[in-house]
Amino acid sequence: MISKSEGELPAVVAPTAACPRTAPRALLALDPAMAREVFTAQAWRRLEACVRLDRSLTAVGGFDDPALREELAACEILITGWGSPHLGPSALARMPRLGHVVHCAGTVKALFDPAVYARGVSVSNAAEANAVPVAQYTLAAIILGAKRAFTLAHRLGAGSLDEHGSHRDLTGLPWLGTRGLTVGVIGASRIGTRVVRLVREVLDASVLLYDPYTDAGLTADPAVRRASLAELLRRSDVVSVHAPLTPETDRLIGAAELALMRDGTVLVNTARGGLVDTDALRREVLRGRIDAVLDVTDPEPLAEGDDLHGAPNAFITPHIAGALGNEITRLGDLAVAEIERITSGLEPWHAVDAAGLGRLA
Ligand SMILES: NC(=O)c1ccc[n+]([C@@H]2O[C@H](COP(=O)([O-])OP(=O)(O)OC[C@H]3O[C@@H](n4cnc5c(N)ncnc54)[C@H](O)[C@@H]3O)[C@@H](O)[C@H]2O)c1
Repeated sequence: MISKSEGELPAVVAPTAACPRTAPRALLALDPAMAREVFTAQAWRRLEACVRLDRSLTAVGGFDDPALREELAACEILITGWGSPHLGPSALARMPRLGHVVHCAGTVKALFDPAVYARGVSVSNAAEANAVPVAQYTLAAIILGAKRAFTLAHRLGAGSLDEHGSHRDLTGLPWLGTRGLTVGVIGASRIGTRVVRLVREVLDASVLLYDPYTDAGLTADPAVRRASLAELLRRSDVVSVHAPLTPETDRLIGAAELALMRDGTVLVNTARGGLVDTDALRREVLRGRIDAVLDVTDPEPLAEGDDLHGAPNAFITPHIAGALGNEITRLGDLAVAEIERITSGLEPWHAVDAAGLGRLA
């Protein structure tokens, strides 16, 4: 049995037979181009086998469209994704039969009015599928950061030579290498717990985990230990940020927290830029005390000419860690599997915890 967080692809629950006339009605509120990116041909076939699908893609224009009256009135499962319209109380009132929303993307915080949850509609998202590439990116960032690959690539490009004339100029590095690292993971989130697993599988690293709200990610593995934020920052060689941006986590890593980190610490942020105080980080990076791998920044993008872009010990990407390109169909596969579960009378696997939304991404 495949658990909900294991494996690359979710398990298929329903047989891919022709859809019965009694199957639930589902409305696809997804831009056509986006729908083509999200669903493979096989996913379409699975979807059409378990729901009567209204491909009313014009819903993207808004749920107020009078032409959608019949589809909205009949809709039992709503399928949304990037670019779908906000689902507010008036649209909800037009969907009296709606029982489930399945969102083919990550966060649902801004998309659905609290009235949706209050009415008992279950909302599932594909954040677990989006977590896969973010965790993979993070593992790559940890490895390349620990190898000082960004600094050394910069030196290579600048023609820097060491004292023996070698183009592999390792002078002045605080430490280098992936052996025996301590990796600090902030946030036992979907992504954070995947990073813990990957780090333990791929590297002989030990892990310090900080999350004030959950034990997720902790197992019997003695090399994974819970820590306070201060201990994690003091003892980690690499610090990787995986908490959501909330009022509580805004600038969680400020000047005082950066000061706790040892010289040569690699800070990886794939979460949200606002979790880190950019001015304080820039100072530490430019002093050469801390290396940074940032997929997200605050502001995002950084201002043109920001010194962080030119720093040899900083590597900044334009928010690419989440599903992009050929990774996007993973979101559709998860959504289809969730719909198959729902239409088979099973509990959704990826239902959002409405009560905990404030602490989640
Ligand atoms: N770079 C990208 O492309 C990309 C893609 C997806 C998600 N993200 C970001 O990655 C992060 C993790 O997303 P997720 O879906 O894995 O999150 P999630 O919703 O699964 O989990 C959030 C976790 O953060 C914890 N948390 C809440 N407040 C905290 C605090 N003060 N300190 C430490 N932990 C705290 C919660 O207990 C929970 O375990 C989010 O910031 C999200 O926005 C980035």
